[in-house]
Amino acid sequence: MSKMEQTRFFQVKPAIYYGLNSIQKLSELNLGRVCIVTDEGMVKFGLLKMITDVLDQHQIRYHVFDDVEPDPSTDIVEKGLYHILLEKPDALIALGGGSAIDSAKAIIYYCYHFKEIFIEPALIQKPIFIALPTTAGTGSEVTNYAVITDKNNNAKIALSDTLMMPDIAILDPKLIESVPAGATAATGMDVLTHGYEAYVSTENNPFSRAYAIKAIELVFKNLYDSLADGSDIHAKANMQIASCMAGIAFNSAGLGITHSIAHAIGARWHLPHGFANAIVLPYVIAFNGNCPRATHFHGRILDAMQIGFKPDHATAKLLADVKALKRQLQLPACLKEHGIVEEEYLASKEKIVQQAMKDVCTTTTPLPPTLEEMNKLFDDVYYGC
Ligand SMILES: NC(=O)c1ccc[n+]([C@@H]2O[C@H](COP(=O)([O-])OP(=O)(O)OC[C@H]3O[C@@H](n4cnc5c(N)ncnc54)[C@H](O)[C@@H]3O)[C@@H](O)[C@H]2O)c1
Ligand SMILES: [Zn+2]
Repeated sequence: MSKMEQTRFFQVKPAIYYGLNSIQKLSELNLGRVCIVTDEGMVKFGLLKMITDVLDQHQIRYHVFDDVEPDPSTDIVEKGLYHILLEKPDALIALGGGSAIDSAKAIIYYCYHFKEIFIEPALIQKPIFIALPTTAGTGSEVTNYAVITDKNNNAKIALSDTLMMPDIAILDPKLIESVPAGATAATGMDVLTHGYEAYVSTENNPFSRAYAIKAIELVFKNLYDSLADGSDIHAKANMQIASCMAGIAFNSAGLGITHSIAHAIGARWHLPHGFANAIVLPYVIAFNGNCPRATHFHGRILDAMQIGFKPDHATAKLLADVKALKRQLQLPACLKEHGIVEEEYLASKEKIVQQAMKDVCTTTTPLPPTLEEMNKLFDDVYYGC
């Protein structure tokens, strides 16, 4: 059956408020009792205070769980779950990057399934879930996914359930002003990878492609400016919108093997998620260039950005532009350049190749690699090519 004959589904769930001072919206939402899930960085950079000031001004009661760590583990989720079960909030606010938002999602997920043991599902009350992203990267504020780390096995677990989709997302550019330059570059490359992988995915569709291509264009136009001039709030606001759009796109279309490989190497060497994607992405674009359908989409990405290219050179041109952007952002070309020693790489290779092959993102990649091809891709990612 062709795709046109099938009934397909696309939904944009959260209400999205965006723009300077959009955090004030919190005061109008009739929140009741609030629980905030966040991390130490939000306390240190004064971002938590920006939120609690709004809540204090409107006499909204809140409880703070600020133990989230980057790449949150199952232990953090368990700890957060106790807080939620004790506090019984009417609203749950996730304040932070993907790690804080994913922790809050996993807490909601396990809380619901715990209650399901004793209560009829229809009677379970779910708190209003509000996500305030403080990085322009993961798009987690608009996705059904949460990525949790299993520390015992050095592996990332992807949870997926509509239960975890936020009800409201607030994109206030003030919340991303303090992101350090290196993290702005890495999280911005995560946005580009989401946009690219959703655009070429086997599950792409007219809706997801519209969001994905706009996100890619916004990244090329704004990522460098959002980093080079820390005060360029317009570039930062555009990156926040790009991140959100790329999230909407991949929530529908899925991702690809850049993410599968990034999950495996990120868990093995504790690399920030966007940084791992930034290393892997050019090698996957080159690999996808062996697939006519992906090559066609490479040309459409360039057309949308009004970038000229010679016939049959779409992949080469897109690849050159992505590599140029990476150089501008001062990101390493390969794992070896980043300083991972060869013995460690060789010792870990078999396990990480297996993990990447099994990763859920591999299911929607435009050109599924054989085991041999995945081994070769890993060598490229390590040695460069
Ligand atoms: N759920 C999804 O759809 C999805 C998609 C991609 C990635 N992820 C996951 O998200 C996580 C990565 O999230 P991330 O890249 O946003 O980083 P992060 O949330 O791990 O944050 C990284 C560091 O930056 C700090 N930080 C965040 N915002 C800041 C700000 N405004 N000012 C100063 N410091 C700030 C944090 O305190 C933290 O120390 C990974 O676990 C990844 O697997 C989830
Ligand atoms: Zn990602």
